[in-house]
Amino acid sequence: MDTNKQLDHLHQLRAEARLGGGQDRIDKQHAMGRLTARERIDLLLDADSFEEFDMFKIHRCKDFGMENTVIPGDGVVTGHGTIHGRIVYVFAQDFTVLGGSLSETLAEKICKIMDLAMKNGAPVIGLNDSGGARIQEGIESLAGYTEIFLRNVMASGVIPQISAIFGPCAGGAVYSPALTDFVIMERLSSYMFLTGPKVVKSVTHEDVTVEELGGADMHSSQSGISDYAASSTVDAIDYIKRLLSFLPQNNFETAPLVPCSDPVDRPSEILQSIIPENPNAAYDIKDVITETVDNGDFFEIKEQFAPNLVVGFARYNGVSVGIVANQPAYLSGVLDIDSSIKGARFVRFCDCFNIPVVTFVDVPGFLPGTAQEYGGVIRNGAKILYAYAEATVPKVTVITRKAYGGAYCVMSSKHLRGDMNYAWPSAQIAVMGSKGAAEVLYGRQARESGDAAAFLAEKEEEYNETVANPYIAAQRGYIDDIIIPSTTRARIIKALGILQNKRDTNPMKKHGNIPM
Ligand code: HXC
Repeated sequence: MDTNKQLDHLHQLRAEARLGGGQDRIDKQHAMGRLTARERIDLLLDADSFEEFDMFKIHRCKDFGMENTVIPGDGVVTGHGTIHGRIVYVFAQDFTVLGGSLSETLAEKICKIMDLAMKNGAPVIGLNDSGGARIQEGIESLAGYTEIFLRNVMASGVIPQISAIFGPCAGGAVYSPALTDFVIMERLSSYMFLTGPKVVKSVTHEDVTVEELGGADMHSSQSGISDYAASSTVDAIDYIKRLLSFLPQNNFETAPLVPCSDPVDRPSEILQSIIPENPNAAYDIKDVITETVDNGDFFEIKEQFAPNLVVGFARYNGVSVGIVANQPAYLSGVLDIDSSIKGARFVRFCDCFNIPVVTFVDVPGFLPGTAQEYGGVIRNGAKILYAYAEATVPKVTVITRKAYGGAYCVMSSKHLRGDMNYAWPSAQIAVMGSKGAAEVLYGRQARESGDAAAFLAEKEEEYNETVANPYIAAQRGYIDDIIIPSTTRARIIKALGILQNKRDTNPMKKHGNIPM
């Protein structure tokens, strides 16, 4: 064959491979409102940056007539490319080929790019759309899944791993995305569950739709598996790109420094009066965040899940940080099981990837009640404490109002190796709120006084003045300084600057044993 014919032959084979399961199935995918694997990759990566691997790789199954269904590439498109000029490794399951079901070959392709991503220190992005284990292959498929799970675990804390779910993701297949750092689901198109509605009906007699059982909104607001429910594929892809902009490529790097046009000492007069006169009145902590970060740009993670704790990424003077903040506008910012888990996982992610953590504290305590105690608020609340304690990245804390009891301790306090702990003059740092404290300390005298309400009100006032303020903590050095609210941005930036070369270590160990 002459060279031209060889090239024609190659082009023809490539064109066939690019068609995946064929035009009919591509049309079916489009008719369902879904893009193909290659179209998703095109949206994700910089133009012309994608280099594909294993386009000609085929499965080896000879059972159930599979020798007659051999499609080059076998149900997943893999390779590398760039996003905003930075290298990423990517795999996209191709539903047009046997429903994107996972064969031994398909798993080998995914594992290959995961291994390369690990070796070369770049993020892995998985675009999921698959009917699960390829039924014709049986154990080979299960083995393949498990090889992927192993790599997810080995890569955890080494390179960022991001999963987008665009279609089905069921059975044990859900565990690969669940092991990654961030999961983004497309609304009304994707679902994740261990067992589908039919099995649920036969076992528990519940009638439930696919959407109710494992849709994007459910997982983003209730189970917490999903970090973002995207309104469309484009929205999901944009979210991934923006997320990556805050992250380093791997655990040996720091996130990119972005030129900052926002003055570092920009004061915020709004912060001077943001705390309501009534200590029990709400305000939106996101206003505090956006007032202080560069250009008011805050990228929230898990917005729908446990909104009593806000987490996300932002920048101070161009430095990428993770922000954790109690939200007084939801459940008074109380800590509970879900918010503790949310905060712990986020802080641990930041610590893995050298991203400083800035914490805003306004927390009345842990949520009381049987639901919380039976659900394990002790075990789960310990997680956020553990995460802050073990984190060695720079930790800057600002107490805006309440920091009560155990919740004071766990929210990046000085005692958990907080580096810079600031408080506003409005801060109340105490074992509990003044009402509860007055009742415990003076309940008997109040009953004997003849006017219990007036007696307790007076004692509450006394407690507030004596104990519930930032000065006692500052006298002990647990608060480094009491700062003027309008200067919060400047103080955080200064603190992060001082801490930029921070080195801290934990004792040598195989790994800790975080309460599960
Ligand atoms: C082989 C599969 C497949 C699978 C789908 N296909 N799933 N082939 N193994 N797991 C094929 C179909 O035969 C069909 O081929 C094509 O993909 C498209 O599937 P449809 O059923 O036509 O599509 P749709 O109606 O959209 O339904 C999608 C679906 C359904 C809901 C995903 O296909 C389905 O229920 N599949 C089985 C899901 C499942 O039970 N998987 C195993 C889960 S357990 P043709 O040639 O007709 O186009 C598991 C264990 C993992 O994954 C354990 C890890 C540890």
